[in-house]
Amino acid sequence: MTRAAVLAGLGGCLPPRLVTNEELAARLDSSDEWVRSRTGIRQRYMAEAGVLTSDLAVGAGSRALKSSGDPHVDALVVATTTPDRPCPATAPTVASKLGLGHAAAWDVSAVCTGFLYALASGAGLIAAGGAERVLVIGAETFSRILNPADRSTSVIFGDGAGAVVLRAGDPDEVGALGPFDLGSDGEGVELITVPAGGPPPDGMDQGPAPEDYYFTMQGKKVFWLAVQRMGQSAQTVLDRTGWRVEDVDHLVAHQANHRITRRLADEIGLPRERAVSNIAEVGNTAAASIPLALAHAHAAGALTPGDRVLLTAFGGGLTWGATTLTWPAVERS
Ligand code: UT7
Repeated sequence: MTRAAVLAGLGGCLPPRLVTNEELAARLDSSDEWVRSRTGIRQRYMAEAGVLTSDLAVGAGSRALKSSGDPHVDALVVATTTPDRPCPATAPTVASKLGLGHAAAWDVSAVCTGFLYALASGAGLIAAGGAERVLVIGAETFSRILNPADRSTSVIFGDGAGAVVLRAGDPDEVGALGPFDLGSDGEGVELITVPAGGPPPDGMDQGPAPEDYYFTMQGKKVFWLAVQRMGQSAQTVLDRTGWRVEDVDHLVAHQANHRITRRLADEIGLPRERAVSNIAEVGNTAAASIPLALAHAHAAGALTPGDRVLLTAFGGGLTWGATTLTWPAVERS
């Protein structure tokens, strides 16, 4: 019989330091009005010095495990753009801190699409019989790679983590993940990138400039690509799942910009009010964005068991993806 991955637990974690638009505008040539109207963001959270991505991942992971009612998993996948170190992966550290014994643990790097890629790899492992339970975490300390002088990125991104537990189940049961659509286009590598940080320059090569270690994004170009790619990917999984767009109760898109999410809803023909949004509170948290949006909607009581949920994301690489699920009865952690 075909096995499916079923969502069994959910949790989020935000660092305590809240940073308002006003605070950023005071040191950047910006304003609360500009940031709110262009992005929908009112505030974001930033990790204090010494707090690592693995710490936020542990916070979200422990809540997801608690809400699933079982502290054990066979595998852990961490999606992150901001690992604790370039080598090794952050996931084994997280597994160790969570007391997961010798569970398989690896990182996925797909920037803002990272959580969906990680979800697909966890679901795939379950479907193939390689695991009964998998913890999937999206976690970022994105503020660490922002150029403090770049107003176009500094106001957008925030830190945080979100996590889900997947368990083996039946494709027809409530909570089962549907098919995935994933894609990439490396031709767009320069649009969203941290240019430096690869192997050190050799011989006569000049080393990278200090600002090359910071994140850069060509926002205008990325805006429309995000709408198009998420729209196409969402439509593909709707077709594969056999849902019409009007069957979708909630669109949970990567929280890049509230204008992107609204255009995306228009693009696929979904009423805008069915799009979940928490970007005002947390900004763009990259790989943590989708599970944090799910945790936010769940905590607000907006998700009812049996609701049909469409997930989609777009990010650096370029990468994009989408999947569907029916919302299960999940304990609030
Ligand atoms: O998470 C991965 C996927 N990410 C995305 O999909 C993000 C996509 N892009 C965006 O969300 C938007 O493009 C941004 C929010 C990044 C920028 O908004 P925009 O409406 O596309 O603005 P823009 O880049 O075209 O800039 C318009 C103006 C420029 O000034 P001039 O050249 O017209 O004089 C910018 O310099 O706004 C200026 N600007 C700012 N002004 C005040 C850019 N950032 C700021 C700022 N405060 N923080």
